[in-house]
Amino acid sequence: MTTTQKTQTVSTNPTMPTVFVCRPLPERGLAQLRGLANLKIWPGPLPPDRAQLLAGVAGCVGIASLVTDRMDGEVMDATATLKVICNVAVGYDNVDWRAAKARGVLVTNTPGVLTETSADMAWALLMAAARHIPQSAEFARAGNWKTWEFDKFLGRDVYGATLGIAGFGRIGQAVAKRAAGFGMRILYHNRNRNEAAELALGAQFVSKDELLRHSDFVSLNMSMNESSRHFIGVRELALMKPTAVLINTARGPVVDTAALTEAMQTRRIFAAALDVTDPEPLPYTHPLYALDNVIIVPHLASATVDTRGRMAEIACANMAAVLRGERPPNVIAELAG
Ligand code: GLV
Repeated sequence: MTTTQKTQTVSTNPTMPTVFVCRPLPERGLAQLRGLANLKIWPGPLPPDRAQLLAGVAGCVGIASLVTDRMDGEVMDATATLKVICNVAVGYDNVDWRAAKARGVLVTNTPGVLTETSADMAWALLMAAARHIPQSAEFARAGNWKTWEFDKFLGRDVYGATLGIAGFGRIGQAVAKRAAGFGMRILYHNRNRNEAAELALGAQFVSKDELLRHSDFVSLNMSMNESSRHFIGVRELALMKPTAVLINTARGPVVDTAALTEAMQTRRIFAAALDVTDPEPLPYTHPLYALDNVIIVPHLASATVDTRGRMAEIACANMAAVLRGERPPNVIAELAG
């Protein structure tokens, strides 16, 4: 348990500022901070609990946070010297940027580096759900493969199907790019229409409801904010084709978990594949795990050796810039002005 964990202070040089790093990050990132700051590194793998976090950040000028670490006004107030929160993620719904703005604290993220890796994961889940990959692999491993069964594990065709992408930013567009090899019709919905991307990717802008009605695969790729909360609920699930597959690699609260559970229990749609859940982690007793039409993986979209290494590098480069008295390169849009 985290209560037994101690924060490591790797170096203590009284002339240098101190930063709190919420988990051991790859050295290719941390190396940029050595010589600029004392590092207090939470050993993980579990996040620091609230008391540990508040105690850990005290006296620090910077915090390198993960998506699991809630950065709110209370945490910011626990260190009077705080200048920057460097989130090691592209999403920053765990950071109260309004509280940061009010306190003059900068917030940075790691945009760009995880686009392709996250799009790969959306596709991995799409294919896995369409063709029952985890369920059938488990079936074989358990010794149940007795013969070639004509009607077992029948999936859905991907080639030539309609892919609906909700959220057409960097990751959504990278998901679309991959569809070209599958001869798919691509629909998208986004707050703003993007005609250049439409042309480049052969995608068609549609309303949210049209997307839900006409797509065989619905991939959620928007960022989490007040307007994307419960983007998929009872009404939306009712609009989807009974043969449709829902893929969520965005953020858990984009989908209403209770509505999804009911829809999957009653087989309202064909399958759901979730990289993110609400709450997160989803307790292992949750009824969604018991369903053979649901795949849940533990928030892995950016989880490749190279991408996680580059995320650490970028987050630490942001931190290093602040420590050198420079403007960090990846200040989040809300604070960039
Ligand atoms: C991961 O979920 C991220 O936002 O980078």
